[in-house]
Amino acid sequence: MCATPASSQKLPRIGLGTFRLQGEAVQNAVRDALRLGYRHIDTASIYHNESAIGSVLQELYAAPSSLLTRSDVYLTSKLSPYDMATPHVALLKSLAALQTTYLDLYLIHWPGVARTRASSPENKKMRVEAWKVLNEAKREGLVVNIGVSNFTAHQLREVVLETGFAMQGAVVQMEVHPWYWRDALEIQSLFAGESVDIVGYALLAEGNLLGRDCAEHLDRIAEKHGISRVQTVLAWALKKGWGVLVRSMDQEHLRQNLEAFALVDVLTSEDCAVIDSISSLDTEEKFCWDPRHVA
Ligand SMILES: NC(=O)c1ccc[n+]([C@@H]2O[C@H](COP(=O)([O-])OP(=O)(O)OC[C@H]3O[C@@H](n4cnc5c(N)ncnc54)[C@H](OP(=O)(O)O)[C@@H]3O)[C@@H](O)[C@H]2O)c1
Repeated sequence: MCATPASSQKLPRIGLGTFRLQGEAVQNAVRDALRLGYRHIDTASIYHNESAIGSVLQELYAAPSSLLTRSDVYLTSKLSPYDMATPHVALLKSLAALQTTYLDLYLIHWPGVARTRASSPENKKMRVEAWKVLNEAKREGLVVNIGVSNFTAHQLREVVLETGFAMQGAVVQMEVHPWYWRDALEIQSLFAGESVDIVGYALLAEGNLLGRDCAEHLDRIAEKHGISRVQTVLAWALKKGWGVLVRSMDQEHLRQNLEAFALVDVLTSEDCAVIDSISSLDTEEKFCWDPRHVA
């Protein structure tokens, strides 16, 4: 089964994450994922794997058996917090490393600037300027879609107000799992009229999902439907209308994760309410970097 058919415009709902994968490891994961039907590859300048991904994509486009062309692959990369002062140059570097003339999606990776205090007003100044540059890059055709990652609802509203560039059609990538999902819902509701897409990462909650003390309700739902815990959580996020990114070097995991798309209708709204209730507003736990501290 395939995720949403990809084009350079439409966001495939299930993507391959490539954080922590480099060299041959990332190349093998990309090869396996594309063969299995993935069409969205998520990278970032700070993952230091864009060149490896660029090379393997060229190899696959050239292989007659793969039948892949550039327009079949939805390629996401991100502006590093170290490059916030030079977004256009950074984008050109990512394009060169990925051996492509355009990205399907380019995101501001983080609302803050590297080596700058979280409380510094420089953070806001730089992300506002970066959002203008991303909008210009879109006009230039260097990127088809733009967005941000790890921004709070407040930071999102702020860049729109300060730049006059709306979030229309933008993508917001952020941490999402049953222990932390209400901020994604808030952003989704806030920009409901502007076709903003939410894409979740860390769906396995940094190992919590596979831990022994994982919520029993999840296992009951998974067992009832004959699916895995990971598939249950992926289908839950997809059912909320969010995209998902998962990293795997295991072909069976890659296959199972892609199957989650077909399981969206298997989960009932009662199942989803139970998964929602694994955390409450008071007990939510965020496991990855937290933008709420960035001024
Ligand atoms: N924008 C941001 O700031 C940001 C932050 C973090 C992540 N991301 C993006 O989101 C992607 C995903 O996040 P992540 O890389 O941190 O980790 P993740 O996808 O949440 O977890 C990866 C781990 O889960 C395991 N796994 C995957 N599928 C599985 C399955 N079906 N059953 C059991 N284990 C499974 C993998 O092991 P195996 O290899 O054995 O399958 C791997 O150890 C990243 O790679 C990156 O592209 C973005």
